[in-house]
Amino acid sequence: MNKNLKILLIISGGIAAYKSLELIRILKKNNIKVQVILTKGGEKFVTALSVASLSEEKVYQDLFSLKDESEMGHIRLSRENDLILVAPASANIMAHTAAGIAYDLATTVLLASNKPIYFAPSMNVEMWNNPITQKNIKTLKENNYNFIGPESGSLACGEHGNGRMSEPEKILKYIMETNKKKINLNILVTAGPTYEAIDPVRYLGNKSSGKQGIEIAKAFQNLGANVSLVLGPSKENVPSNINTINIQSAKDMFEAIKKIKNIDIAVCAAAVSDWKIDSPSKNKIKKSDTDKPKINLSLNPDILYYLSTNKKNRPKLVIGFAAETEDLIKNAQEKLNKKNCDWILANDVSKNPEIFGGDNNSISLITKSNIEEWNTITKKEVAEKLASKVIESIEKN
Ligand code: CTP
Repeated sequence: MNKNLKILLIISGGIAAYKSLELIRILKKNNIKVQVILTKGGEKFVTALSVASLSEEKVYQDLFSLKDESEMGHIRLSRENDLILVAPASANIMAHTAAGIAYDLATTVLLASNKPIYFAPSMNVEMWNNPITQKNIKTLKENNYNFIGPESGSLACGEHGNGRMSEPEKILKYIMETNKKKINLNILVTAGPTYEAIDPVRYLGNKSSGKQGIEIAKAFQNLGANVSLVLGPSKENVPSNINTINIQSAKDMFEAIKKIKNIDIAVCAAAVSDWKIDSPSKNKIKKSDTDKPKINLSLNPDILYYLSTNKKNRPKLVIGFAAETEDLIKNAQEKLNKKNCDWILANDVSKNPEIFGGDNNSISLITKSNIEEWNTITKKEVAEKLASKVIESIEKN
């Protein structure tokens, strides 16, 4: 457990702000340093004096404070803390964060932060259920913001439903759990399809969305690892805090990974095209009634094989994927041996064609000595399970 954790707590306007005083008390009891920003709304529910007394720190309230801003307070507050916790998080502060609007000290710090951000929402049930709030939450989640709660129950306004801020003990537990493993590993993830140019407007591609690989990159990033994501053409959203190298073709992917030094763990989730077009046409190939275009193909470099057989700098663990339509286990085991990698995550795409672009996956994790079935779970869960298995294995060896 990280005993010297430093948290920047933002108390926004909501009746649950009274619980934030208890939250400060238990965070302090657990040896966590707490600095607090109290918003104009928060101030209506708790006083700066009680917050300062409990946190034993100065309370920050004003974006245009001459003294604090002469030291660039809004940047410093994010940089000198390990994470930001917004509790209670009102619908308003989440809406501004989702829209990238900075209008006071709290929203400016949130926008300028390079640290993990946690929201513990608190609001009326209809505000929570409002599609606009839900859309904002979706945007925030896609950008790697973390959520604790809210819980369901009777609300301060007299109504009943989702919207109660989680209890301070639960918030503490979640933060401790997600921060206990700051892993010092360099992770390479390849993801998405590759496009092999036929001419300036046509390409040879495949159905991969990139979702699974992006989730894997996010899972390792959330554990504090140093992640490089080499991503083929994908429409999926990638959080801005993930170091992403966008590429088009298998050759681009190969050149990009060769430039990445000291890879500890490589996860090759990309659906790399096996072939490339020998000489893509410089101009658009015109249709003709008599001549069919002749396309000659040659093999692309196998990136997974290159990483697994790299004698000088082989990563500690090389993990591949196998999307098969028949003889799943047999084909995946053959791939494991042929490509000399350590683990293969195999999925049968014939049984589950909606895997492409969908949110779920069904995986058999194949190692040299074992087969483990992960029945249909979300791609996010696959990613988190894989990340914790990797860490377990690294810690054991
Ligand atoms: N892979 C790679 N580079 C390639 C081809 C594949 O890194 N040029 C990786 C993929 O990222 C995946 C694994 O190898 O982790 C298996 O990919 P797959 O396309 O299933 O393997 P192939 O060797 O191309 O076998 P198949 O004949 O089934 O297409």
